[in-house]
Order: sequence, then structure tokens, then C-alpha cells
Amino acid sequence: MDRAAIEAIKDRLDIADIVRRYVELRPVSGRWMGLCPFHNEKTASFSVNSDEGFFYCFGCQASGDVFDFYAQINGIEFKDALEQLAAEAGVELTPGKVDPQAAKRSSERKLFMDMHEQAANYYSRLLRLPEGRTARNYLEKRGLDSSVIESFGLGCSSEDWQGLEKFLISKGYTSEQGVKAGLLSQNAQGRIYDRFRSRLIFPIKNLSSKVIAFGGRIITEGEPKYLNSSDTPIYKKGDHLYGLWTARNSISRTKHALLTEGYMDVISLHQFGYTNSCGVLGTALTPDQVKRLRGFCSKIDLVFDGDAAGRKAALRSAEMILTQGVSCGVIVLPEGEDVDSILQARGADGFQVFLNDARDGLDFCLSALQQGYSPREVMDWAQGFLKGMTSASLRAYYLPKVAAGLGVAEAELRSVFSGALNSPVPQQQAVRQPTRVAPPVGAQVKDDKYFLRYAVKHPEYVVELSERGVGQVLTSHWGKTLWSKISAHSGQDIIPLLDDSEKQFYISSRAEEALSGEELAEEWRHVCKIIARRRYDLGRKKLTDALRRAQAQGDMNRVSAYLKVLNDSVWRDDEQH
Ligand code: UTP
Ligand code: MN
Repeated sequence: MDRAAIEAIKDRLDIADIVRRYVELRPVSGRWMGLCPFHNEKTASFSVNSDEGFFYCFGCQASGDVFDFYAQINGIEFKDALEQLAAEAGVELTPGKVDPQAAKRSSERKLFMDMHEQAANYYSRLLRLPEGRTARNYLEKRGLDSSVIESFGLGCSSEDWQGLEKFLISKGYTSEQGVKAGLLSQNAQGRIYDRFRSRLIFPIKNLSSKVIAFGGRIITEGEPKYLNSSDTPIYKKGDHLYGLWTARNSISRTKHALLTEGYMDVISLHQFGYTNSCGVLGTALTPDQVKRLRGFCSKIDLVFDGDAAGRKAALRSAEMILTQGVSCGVIVLPEGEDVDSILQARGADGFQVFLNDARDGLDFCLSALQQGYSPREVMDWAQGFLKGMTSASLRAYYLPKVAAGLGVAEAELRSVFSGALNSPVPQQQAVRQPTRVAPPVGAQVKDDKYFLRYAVKHPEYVVELSERGVGQVLTSHWGKTLWSKISAHSGQDIIPLLDDSEKQFYISSRAEEALSGEELAEEWRHVCKIIARRRYDLGRKKLTDALRRAQAQGDMNRVSAYLKVLNDSVWRDDEQH
């Protein structure tokens, strides 16, 4: 198979664009959902993942990459699908020809991610060195625990203008690469220097917990108070939420998110047990950010500062959340306070009082409008609000409420907006989330698939799984074969190498939500334990086989030696790793 061409086609064609020709897709938490074209259904359980390039139906388990989809939907052979899509993508099917642009882009992204990881290590190490003393004192003064300092990967930068630059060069990167990655800056004279100096450093991670940008707070004094990474090929402002990588599990468990404005606020919230918190990162809340959150929860509580800017931001954010069909609560803190100051002064209980008092999102918007807005502005807002609804049914739900809130007759409001409302709006009904397959837990799960699923969902663990001897404890031929493919091609797109049943398993595992944070750590401990247990059992089996042979041969010396070893080797849960 022409692997290079396959990669190139996948780079050029977004699977969602191809699928969309046959299926109406709606965005749900970083993927697309629609009605499955391969079986008859009324609720959407067909998911398409653009980033990973596959589709998967939670209903009928149809799955595959863009070639499989194209072949199945058109009833043609794989190789014909390959040919047609190659023509569409402008890729030649002669071996060894890769789109040089796409290859360059993806290797550049990988390079920038690696540089960010190195930079994060550099900053967090500095925080522990004598040079990090001022920053450490500052964190202590702000009351941050070492646990959150650790889990958020905080660091600091020195006042040295070339500190990170020298470090990156020592790791084999060039200064120019540092500039492109947004870690170094270059002035008009061409001089290159560290972007973040004398700052407390907050790494910003994506949902896969990879560092993609930084925020830096001034420690002593200076301007600006916070400096953030500019947009780079791996980071776009307004696409990400601060802390979502770690809050995600808690948010999807509780279906509830707390959204606030500052770095410090998010970290304090986590420290005080509100692990479902994330932050908007110094820009107005964007529709993309709400879409990201919407995939995990049904309710978002906004916690904003009590000043005029905070109120205004709360109004715009609540509006955006409501128009996307998510419930919204608003907590406006007393003037001069923010989440962090309240938590530090009054603790979780003191903060909970404010949470309990959250205003309903729509009520908040309507009453905010009564203050300082002209009737015309109010009606403009109402029109924009109703027009912005992502579905007709949402609009039907909110129209009477808005009318009542503004003291306008419902029929009146309907007629005022009828012109605007009849024009088509993008249809994006709230999609029911497919039931997620729960990750297997519990000591009784001893299937090869358990380990393999973990490896597929968390490829960063493949090397360690291999070191821990997972290859020896797999029992089925099927499992061993799949494992050999996974471990030999770690970090690459292995879908083209898989047979049908392997592919089905691989994609359904990738379609499940990956664990992170404490849940991931716990699952990993469990995996290690089961591997150790299986290796122990295998060892015992070898011994008992040898014992039986010795008995059959009447070799009593060996029999008693084996018996002794068997008696001495008792499994203890807590000693095995
Ligand atoms: P705040 O000024 O409220 O700061 O800005 P803060 O988060 O409470 O920080 P502390 O408690 O004074 O340390 C809120 C958020 O706005 C963004 C940052 O994301 C900040 O956390 N911001 C603020 C910037 O991006 N740049 C700035 O210069 C200021
Ligand atoms: Mn603050």
C-alpha cells in the first residue's frame, strides 16, 4: 500500500468534509455527530473525528477512516476509493510522494510542541532553583498549595534576556525556531530575546495535556500584568480554555462547569476542591470555547468580577451560552473581590454561599439590560439574542421568557421579529450525547482487550507498557498481533495496517473519552497491578508445571525445591509495584 500517499490524502482531506456530503453533521465536543448512514436511526450516534481522521457509529459500530467511509457509502472497493480520493486531493499514487507542504506543517507542529514541553520543564525547574525564590515567595504569599503548583505545572522565568534561548539552543533548537514557536521575540533590529522575563509562568495545555502556549504574570512590578503567547501554528487565542485539560473529567462527571476569568482564579478553585473549573484567558468568551464545553456539560456557571467590565463580560458570555442551548448561571462577585480573593479569605464554604446564590442566566441578562440601556438597545439585544439561537426549538423556548422578562406581549415580540426569525439560521439542534462506554475498571477484568484499549486510548504509555512486559501477559493470538503493530508503530497512524476486527477495536477505543488527571493515574496503577498479577500467575504456572514433571520423574529434591519457592511466593497486592 502506498502509505505516503495515504498520509498525504488524509492531511489534505478533512474526513468531516467528505462525510458531510452524505450526512448532516453537527459539532459536539471537538467531533462531529450525525445520523448514521449505515443503519436506520432517529438519534445521532454517528461520530466523526476530524483530528484523528476516523468515523465511528456508537449504534452499529461501523467504523474506519476516510477511505473506508468513501468505499462503504459508495459501495466500491478500497483501492477505488483510494484512487478517487487521491484525484480529489491532488495526490499522485506513486510511492514516496508526500505533499511536502502538509508534511512540513505537521513536522513543524510536532517541533513546536516539543519545544513547549522543554520550555515548560525549564520554567518549572527554575521555580525550584535559588533564582526562583522571589516567585516561590510570591506563590506562598498568594496562598497556593504545592499540589496545584505541581499539577498546573507552574514555573517562572528569570530576568535574563537569553535564559530560555540558551536553553533551547542547548537542546538542539535554533533561535529562529524559538521565535516561530512564540517562545522568543525578535525586535526591529533583528535581536532575539526571551519573550517571558521575570514572570510567573502558567503553561496552557490542550485537551491532550500537551503544552501549547504560556501565560506569564509579572512578579514584582511592570507592564503588562499578564503577557500571553501570541497565536502560533499550535495555539489560537479563543480556541482553548485554561485548565480544561484537567477539569474535563470532573465536568463530564457532574455535567457542570465553573467558568471564570483569571489564571489565579482557576488554580484557586481547583485548590479548594472545585475541580470542574476553567478560565477564558483574557479574551471575551468565544463560540468555539462554548462548543468545547458544551460537549462535556449541560450547565455552565459564570463567576465574574463585580466591576463594570466584569458585568459586561458576564452579560455577553451568558448570552452566548444560552443561545447554544446550555443552561447558565451567573455569579457576580462583590466589587473589588475576585474568586481567588474570596476563596483565600473565606474558604470553600464562603465561596459556596455565592454559588448557591447564582442568578439564572436569562434573568441576569434581562435585568442587566434594564440598567443603563435604552429601550432601543434592549430590543436590539432581544432580537440579536433570539436570532442567534442555534435551533428553532430553542428559540420557541426562549421567546415567551424574553417577552415576559421585558414586559412585552409575546405575540407582539413574535411579530416584531417575524421577519428576522423567518430567515434561515444555521440548524444545530442540541445533540443527545451518545452513551459513552465506561472505561473498564475492577480486578476481574483480565481480558487482553483491557490492556490494548488502554494502550490505544493513551499512546503515551505504550513504551512503558512494553517495558512492564505487557507483551508477555497477552494470551490471544489476536491480542498479540495487535500489540505488535501498536508497539512497533507508536506515535504513527496505524489504521492502514489493521485488519477489520483490529480496526473496529482500535477506532472504538479511540472514540471513547481518554482519561486524565487522577482518574488516569488511578487507571494506570490498576493496569500495572494487573500486568504484575498476570506475570506472577504465569511464573507460578511455570513452577507448578515443573513441579509436576519433577514428581512424575520421582526427583524428590527438585520437588521440594519447587514447593519451597511456590510457598514463598505469595501474591501481595501492595508489594508488586
Ligand atoms: P485580572 O486583572 O483580573 O487578574 O485579569 P487576575 O487573574 O485576578 O490576577 P491576579 O489575581 O491579580 O494575579 C483576569 C485575566 O485577564 C487576563 C489574564 O488571563 C488574567 O488572568 N489578562 C489580564 C491578560 O491577559 N493581560 C493582562 O494584562 C491582564
Ligand atoms: Mn485575582
